[in-house]
Amino acid sequence: MSQTILITGANRGIGLEFVRQYLGSGARIIACCREPDRADALMALAEAHPSELDLVALDLAKPSQLTGLKAYLGDLKLDLLISNAGVYGPKGVPLSALDGEDFAPVMAVNVLAPLLLVQNLTDNLAKGAKVALLSSKMGSITDNGSGGSYLYRASKSALNAIGRSLSIDLAELGISVALLHPGWVQTDMGGPNALITPQTSVMGMRHLLAQLDLTGSGRFYNYDGTEIPW
Ligand SMILES: NC(=O)c1ccc[n+]([C@@H]2O[C@H](COP(=O)([O-])OP(=O)(O)OC[C@H]3O[C@@H](n4cnc5c(N)ncnc54)[C@H](OP(=O)(O)O)[C@@H]3O)[C@@H](O)[C@H]2O)c1
Repeated sequence: MSQTILITGANRGIGLEFVRQYLGSGARIIACCREPDRADALMALAEAHPSELDLVALDLAKPSQLTGLKAYLGDLKLDLLISNAGVYGPKGVPLSALDGEDFAPVMAVNVLAPLLLVQNLTDNLAKGAKVALLSSKMGSITDNGSGGSYLYRASKSALNAIGRSLSIDLAELGISVALLHPGWVQTDMGGPNALITPQTSVMGMRHLLAQLDLTGSGRFYNYDGTEIPW
């Protein structure tokens, strides 16, 4: 039976590649993005796959919009929920120039939004469903050897804490949760010098998610399936 999958930040980068690859495997996709009318690549895919791909407007900086998403889904059951949308915040800002005003918007999208997304959609998760939270190795405290990137690092560390708690709280529903580092990926966020393509990253994460079960839930994985220290 084909999978039903919801993906946030589906209009570009890693999210769009998740949509492409899962469509190729015959899945039904609910693709969420801020402005579906302006998401040209997604709209083209929806025209080619009218009964497999739904586009839904969702700005994760506006938690009230989760009510609309929930109403849209009704009692539809999801096999996989991919919380992919994320922001980096201001880049290359030294400690001396940090502006506290920049903290809340990054936390809202990278930390609070994934938590509220899972909270709101728990009833829509099928027994045995999987939740993928796109984190980053930059959220690993062990791996931090270069400093800086305060907001992004803090947001992904906080997301990791949330993912671990979700894995414990959702285990009784048979739902497994994975924190995923997609690699350093050639997207708008990763930039042109990044090491891998979205295709390679998503292929690896799809393989990992296909294997994920409760025994591997609540762990922090690289896209190639190896574990990353917190
Ligand atoms: N690329 C990398 O090397 C890398 C490395 C580690 C982790 N990651 C993580 O992987 C995920 C995807 O990254 P990416 O490289 O694909 O980034 P990207 O190319 O910058 O795309 C980010 C996506 O998030 C969406 N988004 C941002 N704010 C949003 C909001 N308020 N509401 C809804 N959607 C929002 C964007 O939508 P708009 O087009 O509307 O802005 C876009 O679809 C992120 O969580 C990122 O932190 C990426």
